[in-house]
Amino acid sequence: MTDTQRSWEKRLAAKPDELTVDYVESLSYDRRLYKYDIVGSIAHAAMLAQQKLITQAEFRAIEKGLVEISEDIEAGRFEFDKAAEDIHMAIESALIRRIGEPGAKLHTGRSRNDQVATDIRLWLRDEIETLRAGIVQLQQAFVALAARHTEDLMPAYTHLQRAQPIVIAAYLLSFVEQLERDSVRLRNCRTLLNASPLGAGAIAGSTLAIDRQSTARQLGFADIVYNSIDAVSDRDFGAEFIFDCALMAAHLSRFAEDWILFSSNEFGFLRIADAFCTSSSMMPQKRNPDVLELMRAKTGAIYGALVALLTILKGQPSGYNRDLQEDKIHIFSAADTTAKSLEIAAAIVAHTAFRTQEIAAGLDAGFLDATALAEYLVTKGIPFRQAHGIVGALVARCEKQGRELGQLSLEEFREGTPVIEADVYDHLGAASVVRRYVSAGAAGPEQARRQLAFWQEHLAGQGHAGR
Ligand code: ARG
Repeated sequence: MTDTQRSWEKRLAAKPDELTVDYVESLSYDRRLYKYDIVGSIAHAAMLAQQKLITQAEFRAIEKGLVEISEDIEAGRFEFDKAAEDIHMAIESALIRRIGEPGAKLHTGRSRNDQVATDIRLWLRDEIETLRAGIVQLQQAFVALAARHTEDLMPAYTHLQRAQPIVIAAYLLSFVEQLERDSVRLRNCRTLLNASPLGAGAIAGSTLAIDRQSTARQLGFADIVYNSIDAVSDRDFGAEFIFDCALMAAHLSRFAEDWILFSSNEFGFLRIADAFCTSSSMMPQKRNPDVLELMRAKTGAIYGALVALLTILKGQPSGYNRDLQEDKIHIFSAADTTAKSLEIAAAIVAHTAFRTQEIAAGLDAGFLDATALAEYLVTKGIPFRQAHGIVGALVARCEKQGRELGQLSLEEFREGTPVIEADVYDHLGAASVVRRYVSAGAAGPEQARRQLAFWQEHLAGQGHAGR
């Protein structure tokens, strides 16, 4: 520990206890901010030189030293000493050791409070782009699978009971829509956080003539955070980011739940490739969807991160408090888990085969055409509420006799209501029903093809999404 490493120690009579050192350090997790910390420091030093608070020669020495430190960290040559507390101190003290006095001028007009707020915003900007690219990958996997199944049918469920027939593509594209909103939410989050807190100092700014617009411009921020107290106090953008991850995790978890069910023997709708399944140590016949189960479970950790950060924020007095250091634990963990789940979800979707024949063979069960029959009666002039009752009675009759609606004779139909004619049979059966869907966004082949064309064009060659 050099003299310069913790200049604030001069204020305290005793060295921190080893327990304190361990408890307060963040270097073990904030070191991943190093590139952003260095970029921020170079921008700050360039501004100090512009404002003649340091000389050009001092700026060049600082820049060179920081670039070398960055290369050392990148190459794994840099020695992290937890006594340096955090990544900001680790880099600054290394700089001072390397270049001496110019290094000691870097922290002019700056505090770790605005520094860390800057770093985390810079990190999130990039992370958001990474996650949005991951979303596109998953969307593309769903779209590719959907393209193979614009005609193949499956039952749609409400309350996990067979509801109405749909094409498989429509089901798959529902996830693409959800993911698109996840992406837009992240983009909005990025827009809101893209303002520079740098130069807010500890809380009140500086008596030195620093130029905050200059550092903001250099770092690609759209603006500065105008109030220095707000700039160092809040992590609302972090909470918002985790919320976006949490909602994405909810979407992924519901997808996982579907595919766990659909891959079971009971459903038998799809088969996930062996490479994405695991087996049992005891039961030799097992092919388990553990990946999807873990995806479902990890949602809990992301929700936990959200609650953790919200709770960290709620009781703090205005200004920077050390509580804020823990924001990163939860932001990183939510981001990492979400990124990993997106990645493996895309791989699973790309390696799943729908068992279309088996699904089709089971479509006659469950009266999937009952709603369409009620709508047929509407076209014959019967009020829907009445039609609903008539079809309900027909279904009850069929159920008792172990028959399907399409197996009723015209006479039996007419006992329900005389308006039914021979054309009723064109309205029954899953395949006829899906072809008759005419409303926008319905789950039939025509609408699915239209949606598919939109997504294929929209996602083609995209690094990131945006409708
Ligand atoms: N490691 C701290 C954090 O992550 C940096 C700011 C510390 N500031 C302070 N005055 N102790 O928030």
